[in-house]
Amino acid sequence: MKKFLVTIFSVMSFVAVSGFIVSATEAQAAPFKVGPKKCQECHTAEAEVWKGTAHFKSYKDIHKHDKADAIVEAVGDKRMKRSETCTICHYSEEQKDAGDKPKQVAGPSCESCHGAASDWINIHNDYGKGVKREDEPAAHKAERIAKAEAAGMIRPDKLFDVASNCMACHGLARDELEAKDAAAMLDAGHPLKPEFELVSYSQGTVRHRFYPPDVTVNKEMTPAELSQLYVVGQAAALVSAKQAMSKSDHANYKAAQEKRIATATAALDAVKGQVPEAAALLADPSVANGRALAAAVKGKDLTGAVGGMLPKDRK
Ligand code: HEC
Ligand code: HEC
Ligand code: HEC
Ligand code: HEC
Repeated sequence: MKKFLVTIFSVMSFVAVSGFIVSATEAQAAPFKVGPKKCQECHTAEAEVWKGTAHFKSYKDIHKHDKADAIVEAVGDKRMKRSETCTICHYSEEQKDAGDKPKQVAGPSCESCHGAASDWINIHNDYGKGVKREDEPAAHKAERIAKAEAAGMIRPDKLFDVASNCMACHGLARDELEAKDAAAMLDAGHPLKPEFELVSYSQGTVRHRFYPPDVTVNKEMTPAELSQLYVVGQAAALVSAKQAMSKSDHANYKAAQEKRIATATAALDAVKGQVPEAAALLADPSVANGRALAAAVKGKDLTGAVGGMLPKDRK
C-alpha cells in the first residue's frame, strides 16, 4: 500500500493532472502534511516572514511555558510535543507518505493555514507536461487551482475559509479537539482570547503579500482592503463561535464565544446597509453565507461603516 501511494505521487508529478488519479488518491488515505521545508523550496520570501512570527518561534519553547505541564496533564498526557491534543494546534507535522509516522517539525506553519498538502502539492506545481509557468494557458491554470482547492488547498482568494481556519485554532473550536479536553485545558489555565481579530493578528508579523507585479515587495493593505478584511474576519468569527456554542457547556468557554458573537454582530450590523449579505449572515450564520459575504465585500470600501472599529495595534 505504502509503495503504491508513493508511485501514484511520483507519477502525478510527471503526468498532466488527471481527475482519475486525484480521486483515486483521495480514496486511499486522509490528507497529511508534507512539512514547511517543501513549501520553502519555492516560497523563500513567505518563509522568511514566517520565521519572524510567534507561530515559528513557539516551536522552540512553548513546551517550556510555565503553564504547559499543567495543561498537558489536564488532558491526560505527559509531554506537550508528544500529545496528540496539543499537536492539533501547536505543531506542524511532516510525513513522507501516507504510511510514514508523522514527525513534529515546527510550530503552526504553511499547511496549518493553507491546508495539509499531500493531495494538492503536485497539482499546485503542475503547469502541464513540458510547460513552464509563464506559458501555462489560462484555462489550465483555472483548472489547476480548482483541483488544488478540491484536494484541500486553502487559498488566499477564499479569505473566508482562511479566516475560519484561524478562528478554529484561536477560538479553541477545532473539530478534532474534544469538548472535555477543551474544558480541562481552560481549567488548567489555557488562554482563549475572544479579542482575536483578523486585522490586528494578520497584518503585523504574519503578513505576507508578495503579489505581482512586484513579487519582491510585501505589500501593505489599503484602508479599504483593511475594512474588507475586518468584516470577513468578523464573519468567520461569528460562524465559528456560533458552532462552538454547541461544542461545550464550560462556562468560560461559552462566555468567550458569546463575546466573539457580540463583537461580530456589531461589525456586521454596521455594514448591512451597504452589504445585504451581512444581514443574511446575521439571520443564518452558515459557512455558505459567510463565503457569500466575503465575495460581496471584495473591492468595496467599508471604511465609512467600520473604519472606527479597526484595531490600531498589530501583532
Ligand atoms: C515548485 C515550487 C512550489 C512549491 C514546492 C510550492 N509552491 Fe506555492 N506557489 C508556487 C508558485 C509559482 C505560485 C504562484 C502562483 C501559481 O502560479 O500557482 C504559488 C502560489 C501559492 C499560493 C497562492 C495561491 C495560489 O494558488 O496562487 C499559496 C497559498 C501557496 N503557493 C502555498 C504553498 C504551500 C503551502 C506549499 C507547501 C505545501 C507550496 N505552496 C509549495 C510554487 C510552489
Ligand atoms: C484548538 C487549538 C489549540 C489546542 C488544541 C491547544 N492549544 Fe495551546 N494555544 C492555542 C492558541 C491559539 C494559543 C495562543 C493564544 C494567544 O496568545 O493568542 C495557545 C497558547 C498556549 C500556551 C501559552 C499560554 C499563555 O498564557 O501564553 C500554552 C502553554 C499552551 N497553549 C499549551 C497547550 C497545551 C499543553 C496543549 C495540549 C494539551 C494545547 N495548548 C492545545 C491553541 C491551542
Ligand atoms: C497564520 C496563517 C498563515 C501561515 C502560517 C502561512 N500563511 Fe500564507 N497566507 C495566509 C493568508 C491570510 C494569506 C492571504 C494574504 C492576503 O491576501 O492578504 C496568505 C497568502 C499566501 C500567499 C499568496 C501571497 C504571497 O505572498 O504571494 C502565498 C504564496 C502563501 N500564503 C504561502 C505561504 C507559505 C509558503 C507559508 C509557509 C512558509 C505560509 N503561506 C504560511 C496565511 C498564512
Ligand atoms: C493550527 C492552529 C493555528 C492556526 C490555523 C492559526 N494559528 Fe495563530 N497561533 C496558534 C498558536 C498555537 C499560537 C501560540 C503560539 C505561542 O504563543 O507560542 C498562535 C499565535 C498567533 C499569534 C501571536 C499572538 C500574540 O499574542 O503574539 C498571531 C499574531 C497569530 N497566531 C495569528 C494568526 C492568524 C492571523 C491566523 C490565520 C491567518 C492564525 N494565527 C492561524 C495556532 C494557530
